[in-house]
Amino acid sequence: MNEQGEFNNLTTMDKLVVFSGNSNPKLAQSISKSLKVKQAGILSSKFSDGEIQVKIEENVRGKDVFIIQSTCPPVNENLMELLIILDALRRASAARITAVIPYFGYARQDRKDQPRVPITAKLVANLLTVAGANRVLTLDLHAGQVQGFFDIPLDHLYAVDVFLEYFTEMQMKNLVIVSPDVGGIKMARAYAKKFNADLAIVDKRRNTPEATEVMHILGEIKGKDVLLVDDIIATGSSLVEAAKALREAGAKKICAAITHGVLSNSAVEKLEKSHIDFLAISDSIPLPEGKMSKKIKVVSVGGLFADAIKRIHFEQSISVLFDSIRR
Ligand code: R5P
Repeated sequence: MNEQGEFNNLTTMDKLVVFSGNSNPKLAQSISKSLKVKQAGILSSKFSDGEIQVKIEENVRGKDVFIIQSTCPPVNENLMELLIILDALRRASAARITAVIPYFGYARQDRKDQPRVPITAKLVANLLTVAGANRVLTLDLHAGQVQGFFDIPLDHLYAVDVFLEYFTEMQMKNLVIVSPDVGGIKMARAYAKKFNADLAIVDKRRNTPEATEVMHILGEIKGKDVLLVDDIIATGSSLVEAAKALREAGAKKICAAITHGVLSNSAVEKLEKSHIDFLAISDSIPLPEGKMSKKIKVVSVGGLFADAIKRIHFEQSISVLFDSIRR
């Protein structure tokens, strides 16, 4: 690295190869552009019965390979494609393979909270390892402990800095960071520290996968601007119900920063009609085009992933990217 902190070891950079699956080509392009490397090709097709077939289009023997694939909807398709690509890369003698998974799906089933249920986060960790991943690079996991499901190195990035930069320009007043549920306290606390703001928590109960109910708000909200933070927006119920309760409790501007925009079912329509004034979502998952709300603004985590990939490649610490927000 030179004095400006730029990577200048071109010879070693030659060993870095970036591939992308089909889940999020736009983010993969943005990562490759920030890295100033040309994305390598994968031919992907299907047999008549739907089986995925891939062919790695260039030599990866002895290379440091990064394969970018979010396991977002269609989740099973994208996960299977990633596993098949990993297998192909391993059999092609890549020196090291890093699975770059901006959105790690199946992470919400991370413990046996009822009898006779699976732990899919662990299952996916096993599948990735068996398929050939030597390392994993991911962002805002649903629960930090999912890291422990891997016996290979996993680097965990946080989107908070990307959102901090974005919301600082909005100059919100008397800001309170709000977690829409008790499970999100750690994440909200990290945001509160970064934004130098107060913290509040919505005590939510999930009645069905689609419906949530707010029980209490813990913290002072009246007359303040609030920023709801969460790892995932899926059906939108948690966020919309939390915003309603916050408005009733006297919140002024209500914004949200969500890392992964799963946006299933009628989430966008719900958001459109909700008390949320403005919502920033990262591009870890491609957002449905033509179905977007004017309230939604996409912020890119491409630069963050590019920095992390470079640091992994050059065997440098990546903790400088998130040291100040360790939870
Ligand atoms: C739950 O623990 C997660 O952090 C999110 O709050 C949840 O997945 C959001 O789901 P929905 O948008 O369907 O309420």
